Amino acid sequence: MAFKVGLLGLGTVGTGTAEILLHPAQRHPLLQEIEIHRVGVRSLDKPRRVQFPAEMITTDLESIVTDPAVDIVVEVMGGLEPARSLMLTAIQHGKHVVTANKAAIARYGDEIFTAANAAGVYVLLEAAVAGGIPVIEPLKQSLCSNRIQALTGIVNGTTNYILSRMQTEGSDFDAVLADAQRLGYAESDPTADVDGLDAADKIAILASLAFGGRIKLPEVYCEGIRKISAADITYAERLGFVIKLLATAKRDSEELDSDLLQVRVHPTLVPKTHPLASVNGVYNAILIEGDPVGQVMFFGPGAGSGPTASAVVADILNIAAILKVGRAATDANGTPILDPLLSCSHQDYCPIAPIEALVTRFYVRFLAKDSAGVIGYLGTCFGKHEVSLESVVQIGMRDDLAEIVVITHDVREGNFRQALTEIQTFDAIVSIPSVLRVL
Ligand code: NAP
Ligand code: HSE
Repeated sequence: MAFKVGLLGLGTVGTGTAEILLHPAQRHPLLQEIEIHRVGVRSLDKPRRVQFPAEMITTDLESIVTDPAVDIVVEVMGGLEPARSLMLTAIQHGKHVVTANKAAIARYGDEIFTAANAAGVYVLLEAAVAGGIPVIEPLKQSLCSNRIQALTGIVNGTTNYILSRMQTEGSDFDAVLADAQRLGYAESDPTADVDGLDAADKIAILASLAFGGRIKLPEVYCEGIRKISAADITYAERLGFVIKLLATAKRDSEELDSDLLQVRVHPTLVPKTHPLASVNGVYNAILIEGDPVGQVMFFGPGAGSGPTASAVVADILNIAAILKVGRAATDANGTPILDPLLSCSHQDYCPIAPIEALVTRFYVRFLAKDSAGVIGYLGTCFGKHEVSLESVVQIGMRDDLAEIVVITHDVREGNFRQALTEIQTFDAIVSIPSVLRVL
């Protein structure tokens, strides 16, 4: 019995997927029972690394997702539409879906999983978060006996590459971004990566699986790395930190009856001794803390043709394995009952705490007139808003202005912001070039 795949997209990930499926030797034996039936692309004329007979390749993707012969639709075309509609049509036609599309899942996951559960088909998405790193299925299966407390990740390779190079070279953001684009590490439109939106999609998906509820993407706090300067990287280094774009999802309270979560993406000062501090370049890593397992860290290539295809094909194999042993049961309507460890069945939304309620340490850099009383004023103003300071250092002079770096103790973000608003009105404070959270 052969399982037939309809491949939507033959770009970076689609080509890697096809290469594994076409070369099954020395991989899992079940791969020999999986065949690519049809391939959908935008342009028939493009030169391709993998060749298919003309009758197999089409620009009519609708015809693939409705083809009665196709068992599993593999969506690796990206974008929101027509990817969303094609996945929904595939589900309505009883096809299982494997996707790498975090943008579509983070936005339309509710609709797609509701449709899949009603139709009794699987939608698997291992490749959607952190490319080649197995983290989705471990969260759903291997770690499912744990009460997950926190999940902290470097889940965007482009920004990690840029920050790592800024760190080692002392260069500014714009120069490294331009070079990363020239070398093909950053896209020509880098918005989704550098503004943290790609990481927000990924942490919304991970949070949903870790905490068993749906996540409203607009409630995920998101800040990118455009404002990080070489100066901040240098000062952070002197203080014993590296700057990383962290995606975090954690329980807001230790109370067992509290479901409130923090879900956020922002650049963060990470102590050099922290396991995530040494994850550099395009690599991704996700640190999961659970009870009783403790800390588990997943590390590896978060993108690329082969690594991402490795995750896509693992999902295809999971589905093929279940199809091969046959369905265990159907419900009263005849709908197949899905393996609960592979499917995604939660319905409720997780409540998410506003960023103002976050309790964290801050790093803040001021440029001020070098006059008497400035540091005293900062201390008084922070104190008035219950912001306790860990250190205040006047680093030196920049552009004839005194450069002052403050690290706070754990404070409520709302109080900290109120203090900053008041501090900004002080004549001697010329600018506040950076405000960063500290892990
Ligand atoms: P890509 O290289 O741009 O490939 C997209 C493929 O889909 C191309 O073959 C393209 O056809 C086809 N396509 C796109 N829109 C189409 C349309 N409207 N109609 C027909 N065909 C269409 O993209 P990719 O990098 O492989 O990414 C695919 C997905 O994987 C995205 O959701 C991405 O976020 C996700 N992902 C990628 C990576 C990675 O490392 N690249 C890692 C993790 C997840 P043509 O070839 O004819 O243009
Ligand atoms: N643009 C993404 C990154 C690709 O830089 O990590 C993988 O999702």
